[in-house]
Amino acid sequence: MEKEERRLASMERIKTKPCAAIVGAGRTKFGEHWYESPERLLMIAGEAALESVDHGLRRSDIEACYFGSFLYQVTNKLGLVPGYMARELGVNIPMTNTEAACASGSSALFNACMGIMSGKYDVVLVGGFEKMSDRFSKIVDNLMFAGDAHEFDAGFTFSGLYATMMARYIHDYGRGNRRCLEALAQVACKNHHHALGNDYAQFRREITVEDVFKSPLIADPIRLLHCSPVSDGAVALVVVNQEVARKYTDTPIYILASQQATDDVSLFTRESLTGIRATKLAVSKALEQASMSPKDIQIAEVHDCFTIEEVLFLEDAGLFNRGDGWRGVYESFESFKGSKHIPYIGDFGEIIVNPGGGLKADGHPVGATGLRQVWECFVQLRGEAGGHQVSSDKPLNVALCHNIGGTGGIATVHILARDL
Ligand code: COA
Repeated sequence: MEKEERRLASMERIKTKPCAAIVGAGRTKFGEHWYESPERLLMIAGEAALESVDHGLRRSDIEACYFGSFLYQVTNKLGLVPGYMARELGVNIPMTNTEAACASGSSALFNACMGIMSGKYDVVLVGGFEKMSDRFSKIVDNLMFAGDAHEFDAGFTFSGLYATMMARYIHDYGRGNRRCLEALAQVACKNHHHALGNDYAQFRREITVEDVFKSPLIADPIRLLHCSPVSDGAVALVVVNQEVARKYTDTPIYILASQQATDDVSLFTRESLTGIRATKLAVSKALEQASMSPKDIQIAEVHDCFTIEEVLFLEDAGLFNRGDGWRGVYESFESFKGSKHIPYIGDFGEIIVNPGGGLKADGHPVGATGLRQVWECFVQLRGEAGGHQVSSDKPLNVALCHNIGGTGGIATVHILARDL
């Protein structure tokens, strides 16, 4: 199907099928929040989301809440998030908390979309949060709840698991080629560069390829500057049935597709260490749901927990052939160095990945990350991203969010669009 036909098919689908829309979004800055509790962080984001609704929204309009978080029982000895949030919000409506490791936030949105598309709810509040810094050095072990117990017993951390994937990728596709190593560092440089204008980002400083190579070794070949950080933060969205969206704002952002796929939690039983099956499945299902191809995506929020994962996404999503992602990164980075946003270019055209800094520079409070990605696309598509707004000759219409849990045991993909 040609691009124009696909666009028309998407417009038709929006008119004829129930589809969720986002009418408000709010977040906290990501980083260290020593003086705020996790539920308070979520409340700050929730209040910001409610206040951002252009035509106003009363708390009594919210029919249900969907939250996403991973480690709050361990990091802050909290349980029963709905009970805390009923108290904070002053409402007594149904609330569900979803745990899917780093994909907890996007899983909450996935469930919220089902609540809306089933016709049960018209207006829901979706929130994601995490408070990791309180656990100091123990957090690295705690994150391994999302890994296989055998991997943990063998001494793996998440840096170690992704280092295994990165080492295999370099071995299979970039052996003896320094440019492959540079590309894996350039992903971090690009994302730090994109975060410079993002007031909410944890890191707002440029880094160079040399800085990455000289940063401390964490798990060979992963160095500190290949990693996303340990972060605290929260994000919230107001999600409604598309039929009522214009009651709340003149510029709703539609959720054209909400898809999820799963795979074995253990890295050692996977078919391949250099591709994430759950990503491939979720991306292809989402593109099918939105009647789109990868060429239609203008910006993408990609799960760059370690830089190798952004390269794997480019291949899993079909933008580059298997093993060619690093070449795409290298050539694009060299061609566009110095621009405000550094796009990836290839046969698919052009795509800007992680325009606000991604997990690498904006931060990665795991339960909040999936919704932070959606927040980023929401403000970008509405032209409200301020200092990190993507400027483009053509209006920004379509964005994709990709969020994974663990090393790929779960992947959630959302495709968002402005009024097409
Ligand atoms: N990127 C850039 N800078 C970072 C950073 C990161 N990922 N992590 C820490 N820093 C900076 C700090 O700001 C600090 O800078 P300063 O000296 O100017 O204040 C410095 O590096 C040292 O920070 P520190 O907190 O002591 O680092 P650390 O060694 O304790 O932690 C990592 C670094 C990489 C080990 C930690 O961030 C980590 O484990 N990240 C991965 C988290 C993870 O696994 N998430 C789940 C993914 S699936």
